[in-house]
Amino acid sequence: MWLLPLPTAGGKRNAQQGTKESKNKMNTRKRVCILSLLLGIAIASPGLLSAGQVQDGQKLFDAKCVRCHAKDGSGKTAIGSALGAADLRSAVVQKLTDAQIYAQIENGKANMPPFGPGLNKQQINELMSYVRSLAKKQVAKNNKRSR
Ligand code: HEC
Repeated sequence: MWLLPLPTAGGKRNAQQGTKESKNKMNTRKRVCILSLLLGIAIASPGLLSAGQVQDGQKLFDAKCVRCHAKDGSGKTAIGSALGAADLRSAVVQKLTDAQIYAQIENGKANMPPFGPGLNKQQINELMSYVRSLAKKQVAKNNKRSR
């Protein structure tokens, strides 16, 4: 959106003189200004960013993981039970480090196939955040009264 050149008095004058270069410089400065503004907003609202990340993670999870791990992460699906899919909300899984969960998704383990080949780094990170959020949902459910 900020890539659209905005007409300004300076820009017009420069265009008439045919000095395209200084016109571009103007717009570049403007772009940098707007970009840093957007960056500031992004940094100032990490909650917003991670909410989006969890949402993307959920989409990926629904597409790739639910058949074994179930919507709630319990692993109580027909395939999940047959393969021994882990309960993603369990302490055993949640005490794994981010790096371990990342590696598990990327490389697979035992009956879980590797997903690294079909996913990029960001997507695996989003899935990892989502696996974390499954446990938080569970805790929130248990602590409903105390909140
Ligand atoms: C084909 C069934 C299947 C699918 C699909 C699947 N998993 Fe698993 N997953 C398993 C099984 C089985 C285990 C238990 C592995 C073991 O024995 O340690 C597991 C374990 C895990 C663990 C726990 C790791 C550990 O070391 O205990 C995580 C985290 C996990 N899966 C995440 C995911 C995510 C995220 C996806 C989607 C990208 C996914 N899984 C898709 C079958 C599956």
